[in-house]
Amino acid sequence: MRRAIRVLVADDEKNLRELMIRELGRKGHDVEGAADGEEALASLRESPFDVVVLDMRMPKREGLDVLRELTTVPEPPQVIVMTGFQDVTNAVEAMKLGAYDYLTKPTKIEELDILIRKAAEKALLLRDNAALRAHAEGAQPFAGILTRSAAMHEVLRIIDRVAPTDTAVLVLGESGTGKELVARAIHERSTRASRPFVPIHCGALPREVFESELFGHEKGAFTGAITTKPGLVELADGGTLFLDEIGEMEPDSQVKILRALETGMFFRVGGTRARRVDVRLVAATNRDLGEAMRAGEFRQDLYYRINTITVKLPPLRDRREDIAVLAQHFLEQKAVYGAKRLSLAALAALEAYDWPGNVRELLHAVERAVILAKGDDIVPEDLPPEVVGDRGAAPAVPSGTLESMERQHIVATLRQVGGHRGKAAALLAIDPKTLYRKVLAYRIKPEEWT
Ligand SMILES: Nc1ncnc2c1ncn2[C@@H]1O[C@H](COP(=O)(O)OP(=O)(O)OP(=O)(O)O)[C@@H](O)[C@H]1O
Ligand SMILES: [Mg+2]
Repeated sequence: MRRAIRVLVADDEKNLRELMIRELGRKGHDVEGAADGEEALASLRESPFDVVVLDMRMPKREGLDVLRELTTVPEPPQVIVMTGFQDVTNAVEAMKLGAYDYLTKPTKIEELDILIRKAAEKALLLRDNAALRAHAEGAQPFAGILTRSAAMHEVLRIIDRVAPTDTAVLVLGESGTGKELVARAIHERSTRASRPFVPIHCGALPREVFESELFGHEKGAFTGAITTKPGLVELADGGTLFLDEIGEMEPDSQVKILRALETGMFFRVGGTRARRVDVRLVAATNRDLGEAMRAGEFRQDLYYRINTITVKLPPLRDRREDIAVLAQHFLEQKAVYGAKRLSLAALAALEAYDWPGNVRELLHAVERAVILAKGDDIVPEDLPPEVVGDRGAAPAVPSGTLESMERQHIVATLRQVGGHRGKAAALLAIDPKTLYRKVLAYRIKPEEWT
């Protein structure tokens, strides 16, 4: 069953108005009348309508006036304008003011019915999108870090406080949680911001190559060292050195780094002159360094040197409130492939998934969906199979409880209306936002209602 479309017929001609109310009621709509512009506005303020059939010539406030005023009404309806043959210019003006369409009098009820259905569809779509946007609200960019999670705001607060100091910072977090983004934010908010930020991946290169990259080498230091080459630490002078995946660094290199940190001096590979640099160190790892230390793979002295301040990034599954914000952001970023919207079912799937690859995995999933989506809306089928295919997961509530009954009821209702949130909310007689929260809280997955 569908929820009836709520229609307001605003026309001062009593007979015509009552005829329309009766006939549109027969078509299954939920219709009310208003005898003039003022009454129409009052009704619209009182409760939301999907569609208004608006006569242009009315006492008190004429149609155009009502249209202008509609921008101040919460959840404004779609407007179908009725106009006499003589004043089509009025209709054109009305379209400019955002009316959905217009009909000239005398009006055929069939025609009006079709227009009402189309307009209502558009109203629902707009409302869904407004809900999506509201959902993404509160995202304050902080050096490119988008979040609305309390835990992440704590992280941002630490960044703010530690950035202006010269203290070494250790950034911890699973792969793809935004460690490099945080390292850059620290740099950008430091007094070193005008100097270079130099990242180096500690696990990607064999030890010798890594050390000669980091510290540079003198001509003839090893086979292939045909010229003298300054190291990245020198490039980073006055700026920030970002040691990415420091947990992967080999013990020999760890000793050299530690020495450089303690003395502020280093030697190029094959060099004999001690060089001095002024770098601030930010390191990151997704390894448990405590465990690496116990396993003898990470030096204790280096560990204590770098972990004065640690910033721990929560995995995305522990801050699901960020998923909508980030997805929306990536959607806009990837709009070059086509401007797409996220259907609520797709968003629900994104929010239910556990994201082992965290924000980076989400970024790739959205990019892929933007490219794959056939229509304007990204639907669950456009998402990677692992995101939507998470069937049979244990329900979030134990059975036999009131919650589980409510959960069942919601699933059944969603199934009944093909997953349409607006319709389901109407059937359940709850606010769409409330329904949305419940879907998340009960971890109701799209495949349960399809
Ligand atoms: N809060 C955020 N807001 C906006 N973009 C983010 C956020 N977190 C991560 N990203 C983006 O996600 C991607 C992965 O982030 P980043 O490279 O910083 O993660 P990482 O923890 O260093 O990953 P890895 O462990 O794989 O090196 C980047 O494109 C980054 O811009
Ligand atoms: Mg990284």
